[in-house]
Amino acid sequence: MWPGARGRGDRQLPAARARALSIARVSTAANRPADPPVTLPVTPSVTPPAAAAAPRTVLVTGGSRGIGAAAARLAAARGWDVAVNYTRDAAAAEAVAADVRARGRRAFVVQADVGEEAQVRAMFAALDAEVAAGRLAPLAGLVNNAGVVDWPSRVDEMSGARIERMFRINVFGSMWCAREALRRLSTKHGGAGGSIVNLGSAASRIGAAGQYVDYAASKGAIDVFTLGLAREVATEGVRVNAVRPGIIDTDIHASGGNPDRARQMAGAVPMQRAGSAEEVALAILWLLSDEASYSTGTVLDVTGGR
Ligand SMILES: NC(=O)c1ccc[n+]([C@@H]2O[C@H](COP(=O)([O-])OP(=O)(O)OC[C@H]3O[C@@H](n4cnc5c(N)ncnc54)[C@H](OP(=O)(O)O)[C@@H]3O)[C@@H](O)[C@H]2O)c1
Repeated sequence: MWPGARGRGDRQLPAARARALSIARVSTAANRPADPPVTLPVTPSVTPPAAAAAPRTVLVTGGSRGIGAAAARLAAARGWDVAVNYTRDAAAAEAVAADVRARGRRAFVVQADVGEEAQVRAMFAALDAEVAAGRLAPLAGLVNNAGVVDWPSRVDEMSGARIERMFRINVFGSMWCAREALRRLSTKHGGAGGSIVNLGSAASRIGAAGQYVDYAASKGAIDVFTLGLAREVATEGVRVNAVRPGIIDTDIHASGGNPDRARQMAGAVPMQRAGSAEEVALAILWLLSDEASYSTGTVLDVTGGR
């Protein structure tokens, strides 16, 4: 067997291949012939982002704080009208809407608990009314961002109510919102297409043992939902992708009982720091945009290497 052989098929080194290898071995940067000029193919089917100027609206669930607020602000800067959803903090949602308007786009603030199906339906109906009245551009994007954690707990100590809340908001809420968005965006329903970005979490790879396995499991469901839905509607003008953040410095850690968690966990991140909401928003906006026109079913880690 020759030195580079890996299996049975490599035992006999054909003469032509041996010649090619010996040529490759003596070919160095110094004596290699210059590469021929490359002509890049023109791809007329791809609309340059700058030309896609028709106004569009994106609904950001949980847009009043953290990653959702950063995504809402960046969306406005990139030319989207923004519907800002929240549950408790109307003032925070209004402040984000003011930032959207300061960037020259229209904003609509809408309260709804995404863990309640009736409220999700009402939120989309309110959005429809805004679009019909000409106060918002047509809906073309959804960022399924609203999500919760809970205090550290083993599974054998979790109440049924806790597990149910986790899945209601993180999983059912995302699915109900995606369903309502699809009914408006999919060409199957007469829509003009669009883009959905779900927020997963690196917890779906890590499991969050001893902390919140229920949260990790809910985000695992988001990974699979993203993949399946993307394939289901791939020919209907709707792309479905997910961003999977790692440890990001937002208020969510305080709601999990440890406001300093992002700083404390920095040493566990290969980059040795927590990420910012703005860094996650950049990934969300890319997947949302026409620049990601050939990406669907993608789960994009934004984790500093974790
Ligand atoms: N931060 C991280 O380290 C991290 C890591 C991985 C994944 N993620 C995911 O990224 C997403 C955003 O996280 P974040 O850190 O920005 O969270 P955050 O700072 O706690 O903000 C959560 C947002 O969601 C809203 N919200 C909460 N429950 C809701 C409900 N039932 N219906 C509608 N809105 C609701 C909140 O609105 P109110 O203030 O009005 O309640 C708030 O705007 C979540 O899906 C989270 O799981 C975060």
